[in-house]
Amino acid sequence: MDKPKIAGTGPKTVELEEGKKYAFCTCGLSDTQPFCNGAHKGTGFTPNVFTAEETKTANLCQCKQTANAPYCDGSHAKIGRIG
Ligand code: FES
Repeated sequence: MDKPKIAGTGPKTVELEEGKKYAFCTCGLSDTQPFCNGAHKGTGFTPNVFTAEETKTANLCQCKQTANAPYCDGSHAKIGRIG
């Protein structure tokens, strides 16, 4: 697998808790998007583990094309053009 699967065509809005660790899915195979469920095994992808710096609502990327992971940067708008 050299490209992540597009798990969704737009971001998922989630509540992040300050100081809590999250594992953001980068392969797109997890069925608990936008978070890792271990489905990346054998793909060469690994989750992006991050700690929330504050308690907030965040839009996390599900198309896996963002340049600002784990956050949506609007790149999903180009999905139709992703080969
Ligand atoms: S959902 Fe991936 S950039 Fe918006």
